[in-house]
Amino acid sequence: MRLDKLLANSGYGTRTEVKEMLRQGRVCLRGEVIRDPGFSISEEQAPDLTLDGQNIRAGQYLYFCLNKPDGYLTAMTDDRLPCVGDLLPSNLKTKKISPVGRLDFHTTGVLLLTNDGELSHRLTSPKWHREKAYLVTYSGDELTEKEKVLFASGMTLHEKDHAPEKLKPAELQILPDHTCRLILTEGKTHQVKRMIASTGRSVETLHRERIGTLTLKDGQQPGEMYALSDEEIRLLKEDS
Ligand code: URA
Repeated sequence: MRLDKLLANSGYGTRTEVKEMLRQGRVCLRGEVIRDPGFSISEEQAPDLTLDGQNIRAGQYLYFCLNKPDGYLTAMTDDRLPCVGDLLPSNLKTKKISPVGRLDFHTTGVLLLTNDGELSHRLTSPKWHREKAYLVTYSGDELTEKEKVLFASGMTLHEKDHAPEKLKPAELQILPDHTCRLILTEGKTHQVKRMIASTGRSVETLHRERIGTLTLKDGQQPGEMYALSDEEIRLLKEDS
């Protein structure tokens, strides 16, 4: 297969983007820089390819971290509204990639996308207790030590027309100017908004900063995604 095609199919960018990576001398085969996009690469050679010194994962499952923009559905297709599937480059649209879990339409930040169904299943299972950190701005009175203690105790949500719901202990960090960080170890539907609402306040903006150890890269703009490194994948799979 042509090297540019293999790199694009493996999620390292569009054909144009990978041609540029090659031109910049970032791709090596056994330590030797390859700049020719048409270089013919065999299946046996693929494991010896590196990009910026990191092994390339070719033809295996794909894993991306998207900075989800505001105003996008967490879905691959939708007839009416913009959705995260629209942000995938066209060469990846046939790879059966889907989001792991869900962020609300207006929530921004870390969203994992993969076609590794088994990992996706494990990460969304109630048994998965890795941290998810959210940066929240809210309206109403400033949060206090009282809410910190309440959230840390493993509160029960009592909501109209719903059975009481017991939550796992969560860490609340109160920041200045109606901002806080909430660190959860579970992912119940609209959990952050419901917890903040239970205190008589309401969420204004919501941004997921982290899933486990997975964060956005410096300067990663809304709508941009990066392919996870082997190490980032290993950390996600660890005790999931
Ligand atoms: N909690 C919410 O309320 N919304 C999200 O999008 C994520 C967590």
